[in-house]
Amino acid sequence: MCGIVGYTGKQNVEKQILDALELLEYRGYDSAGMAIMDDLTGQIQVRKCAGRVSDLRNVWCQNLVSGRCGIGHTRWATHGGVCDENAHPHRVGRITLVHNGIIENYEALKDHFGLADQLVSETDTEVVAALLNHFYTGDPHQALVETVKWLKGTFALVVIFEDIPNVIFAIRNVSPIVAAYHKNGTMLASDVAALGGQADRYLVVPEYHVVELHQDAIQIYDMEDRLCEPEFLEIDWDTTRDGKGQYPFYMEKEIMEQPEVIEKTLSSRLVDGHLSLEADGVPDEVLKACERICVVACGTAMHAGLVAQNMVRSILRMPMDVEYASEFMYMDPVIDEKTLVLAISQSGETIDTLEALKYARRQGAKSIAVINVKGSSIARESDYVMYTAAGPEIAVASTKAYTTQLAALFVLVGRMAVVRGVFDEAAEKTFVNGLVQAPEAMQKVLDRREEIHHIARGLLEAKDAFMIGRGLDYSILLEGALKLKEISYIHTEAYASGELKHGTIALITEKTPVVALVTQERIRDKELSNIREVQSRGASVVLLVKDGIKLNQEDYDHVFMLPAMADGMMPFPASAALQLLAYYVSMDRGLDVDKPRNLAKVVTVE
Ligand code: F6R
Repeated sequence: MCGIVGYTGKQNVEKQILDALELLEYRGYDSAGMAIMDDLTGQIQVRKCAGRVSDLRNVWCQNLVSGRCGIGHTRWATHGGVCDENAHPHRVGRITLVHNGIIENYEALKDHFGLADQLVSETDTEVVAALLNHFYTGDPHQALVETVKWLKGTFALVVIFEDIPNVIFAIRNVSPIVAAYHKNGTMLASDVAALGGQADRYLVVPEYHVVELHQDAIQIYDMEDRLCEPEFLEIDWDTTRDGKGQYPFYMEKEIMEQPEVIEKTLSSRLVDGHLSLEADGVPDEVLKACERICVVACGTAMHAGLVAQNMVRSILRMPMDVEYASEFMYMDPVIDEKTLVLAISQSGETIDTLEALKYARRQGAKSIAVINVKGSSIARESDYVMYTAAGPEIAVASTKAYTTQLAALFVLVGRMAVVRGVFDEAAEKTFVNGLVQAPEAMQKVLDRREEIHHIARGLLEAKDAFMIGRGLDYSILLEGALKLKEISYIHTEAYASGELKHGTIALITEKTPVVALVTQERIRDKELSNIREVQSRGASVVLLVKDGIKLNQEDYDHVFMLPAMADGMMPFPASAALQLLAYYVSMDRGLDVDKPRNLAKVVTVE
């Protein structure tokens, strides 16, 4: 995690850095800092503090420095608590640097090189600064190359040397760095989001290469110090940010955008009423040849995989596993050349997902990545990519990325059903007709958001909550519960409702509100019986139910009718309702909805 940035050019650097850090804050926001080469003295001035980029702006204003070259950092703490000393940049001797990643052997390096006396923080990063200073005798390339030979772990290091004015150096392993020509200078950052619409092209800094940023040139050298030809990519991804508009939080804006972005995600894949992955370049052969499917993903993206698993099992009747990417390699996964691996990720940078994908490919599996951010690491690592059309998602809690992942996955499953002969023309038509109704069904939920706001008030005081359902409903609720816990801090468990009585029902009291989801006609009776079991233990129940499912509304504390769709399509309206529920609870608790504590939007540490 962590966002890093560097700028050297003709403009005032503090504005470039602070603006870019704000755009990168979703990678981490517990402390921020920057280092600038002072125009007047030529010395490097560091300003840093615990807190947000807005706090750094204040620190800066109280102690201004003007310069044209500098580096910045917004932190998500790994080694060492959240305090001013542990914030980046770190300076030792002539070296000042920022770092994204984790140096696993930093304790051993500290001891081996006797660096402890030079350190003032608890971070792994400062050890790297001290090591680089140890090796630096005037040749920055030689010092960087020598230093990284000793490092175990992941790193994106961005460095300025006090005796090399207006040049920024960087080197990386796994953790990303992109570089670009900027109006009046050059710039680098953790990802293209930080370029904020100021560049048309960018390059991904290759691993284990030294990149040099001058005011008018970007140069890349390999580890043998040979100059390399940089490969630039077009930015066909909107890196400008048009703000929150009329909404108090990005999360609400992003929830409201869902009908539009789902339609966009579907439209290029529905050709003359048929499901098509031609624009994605996914050959039918790949969809036909596989014998099993395996999803590797984390958090919300993994929950999208669980919903798809229901579809794969019911429609394709194929074996499918959905794995936490972080656990994948350690669970002896059954993967071979007949396995189709789906790597699902909004950012395309989640390191657990990236490493799981690499592992699966080493076993011979074919892979399709379902990704939001164009050109990201997972997209580049995969055989094929299906891009979702969610557009930039700024709120830490994922909403539109999740439902566009569902849309893309539904098309994929449907197309597999066609090419494998499971769907005839009529079945494909029914499936497509159901899918194209998703945006409208979601819109109907969004239009009634004040009803959900009202229901949310009943959860404001809860310390614990449960969400119960069976089958597909349970998969949908896993995501609903994650939303509620991550932004409202209410401990919420999604539970398969039939499983409650095997132990967990002991936790149900009149103080544990229960959200029940009933969208599947065939298991209605069993679901309603399970709801009665929690009511008998005193729990109040919010029921989200598909319109048309018969029940007595008076039996429940709150009922929200979800627009009726085919059972398999119900994740769309149900997810919108659950997102809004979490959103209103968080907002009415007075929390920072977009930036919940301890989290970051992009998770680039294992
Ligand atoms: C929760 C959330 C996370 C992410 C997870 C994977 O709202 O956003 O659980 O889904 O960190 O991130 P990506 O999709 O970028 O791989």
